[in-house]
Amino acid sequence: MRTLRTVGELRAALEPARRAGRTIGLVPTMGALHEGHLSLIVRARSQCDLVVVSLFVNPAQFNEHADLDRYPRQEDRDRGLAAQAGADLLFAPTREEVYPAGFSTSVEVLGLTDRLEGAVRGSAHFRGVTTVVTKLLNMVAPDIAYFGQKDAQQVIVIRRLVEDLNVAVRIEECPTVRESDGLAMSSRNAHLSPDERTRALALHRALAAAGAAVSDGELSADALIRAARDAMTPFDVEPEYLALVSPDTLETVSRLDEPALLAIAARVGATRLIDNVTLYPDVRSNPQQPNPREAQAICSA
Ligand code: PAJ
Repeated sequence: MRTLRTVGELRAALEPARRAGRTIGLVPTMGALHEGHLSLIVRARSQCDLVVVSLFVNPAQFNEHADLDRYPRQEDRDRGLAAQAGADLLFAPTREEVYPAGFSTSVEVLGLTDRLEGAVRGSAHFRGVTTVVTKLLNMVAPDIAYFGQKDAQQVIVIRRLVEDLNVAVRIEECPTVRESDGLAMSSRNAHLSPDERTRALALHRALAAAGAAVSDGELSADALIRAARDAMTPFDVEPEYLALVSPDTLETVSRLDEPALLAIAARVGATRLIDNVTLYPDVRSNPQQPNPREAQAICSA
């Protein structure tokens, strides 16, 4: 697998495949790859002729300097894992390549980014995400780009961006990969102390409790959120937000008449975690989402 540092090298490497009409897939990441990322690469490998993984810790989307500074950087390990999962090219540009001197353009999706993560982290976070994702889509010009449901709001915002700006790419959303006890995999989990790791289960337990309440026939948003909050009490974790929202508008809904997104964010010690689940009023229509085995095998090898 080749590692490319500049947009020029990247375009030259993609040119023959593009000319031959091959399908190009892009998996954008900030590195510190885990099974969640690898599941996206495995999916891309199964659907595309050429798979590009981008690795760029995007300073523009961090709202806390400390979070950016301590974000894990482990390119050699990531290169090995990406290759094993089936990537053909690793695009790992420098900060100067992405944001050269004089850079002064940004891409912003309004409305959707005011809610949930945007409300807590401020508008700069999603502006940073949408600007860098636009740039990556323009640099690679993939046929398909892969994102995880773990960051559900991010996928919703990117779908809006692609539609609004007529970007010729298909966005594929891949299910959240979890640890065996339910904790959603995240690069930030590495910061948790053993005690915090136990308390971090609060997020998944909250979502599971709401899911169980739906299975028992509960459809009121207040009751579902209460069930979720109650499940968090033993873990001594307070949600920053815990909201049942429309997956189209991200506006809160009062009843689960249509499938809705239950989204949660919480700080466990100094580490901020997010998670979400789609709740279906008719539980029989809830698709099963098994953890992709192939990605798990690569990480545990
Ligand atoms: P990063 O946090 O590295 O995540 C890269 C991709 O992996 C995202 O699409 C994210 O949703 C997905 N992902 C993370 N954890 C996952 C899990 N447990 N299961 C399934 N997918 C998971 O998200 C970003 O980077 C950045 O915002 C980026 C899109 C690269 C722009 O900088």
